[in-house]
Amino acid sequence: MTTTIVQLTDPHIREPGRLAYGRIDTAPFLRRAVDAVLRLPQAPDAVVMTGDLTDFGRPAEYEHLASLIAPLPMPVFLLPGNHDDREQLRRSFPQHRYFGTGRFLQYTAAVGELTLIALDTVMPSESHGVLCEERLAWLEQALDAHRGRPLVVAMHHPPFRTLIGHMDRIGLLAGAKALEAIVARHPNVQRVICGHLHRAIDVRFGGTIASTAPGPAHQVALDLAPDAASAWLLEPPCFRIHAWSEGCMVTHLAFVGEFDGPHPFHENGSLID
Ligand SMILES: [Fe+2]
Repeated sequence: MTTTIVQLTDPHIREPGRLAYGRIDTAPFLRRAVDAVLRLPQAPDAVVMTGDLTDFGRPAEYEHLASLIAPLPMPVFLLPGNHDDREQLRRSFPQHRYFGTGRFLQYTAAVGELTLIALDTVMPSESHGVLCEERLAWLEQALDAHRGRPLVVAMHHPPFRTLIGHMDRIGLLAGAKALEAIVARHPNVQRVICGHLHRAIDVRFGGTIASTAPGPAHQVALDLAPDAASAWLLEPPCFRIHAWSEGCMVTHLAFVGEFDGPHPFHENGSLID
């Protein structure tokens, strides 16, 4: 049996007709990503959206987001990013009962053979993230309660340096080292999956693999100079597929778009010459 979680992150949805950064209509990009998830040969068990669901956390933006993800028939797990409003997110998705009523928007959810643990890194009105002692203590308890199961920890701000200077300056500015120590004590954490970076980045972290994922619309420019300009571009949209099978987690990067193929490698049992 394979358990599959699709990670769709940072769609930055605006009110219908309004453009993100004055230039990108993010809604059709998310619609195409949702269509691509629906066309996967194997339907995923769940979709997790790791923050920056909207651009400004406004009610009309969440309403627009709800209509765009409505075609997804599997459970969809939402968590906030720095562009979101935690309380508005709760109000806009009352049917998402897994949010709970705690001070932070953190939760655990069973997905097939996996357990998803969502962490809230948001610091209201700030672009950077934090994991305070209260959030970390909750995580340690959640991890202890699921010692026997393979776990995926999901959060918006990645707990590692990305070498993209302007993004590291608004990264997880508190709690990353403590998180790494907690993860290291729980070897059943198979992945720490993050958003925020609008790029695919993989890092060794606390004995597991931590990663970020590209967005369904704009990506952050790849420039490792410490003083690189804060800029975006329309590189190909992607999402991640995290698949657990026979005791092993495999992560793929799936591109969204119209591509030539698939074409067969073989004909009548032979490689096509
Ligand atoms: Fe974002």
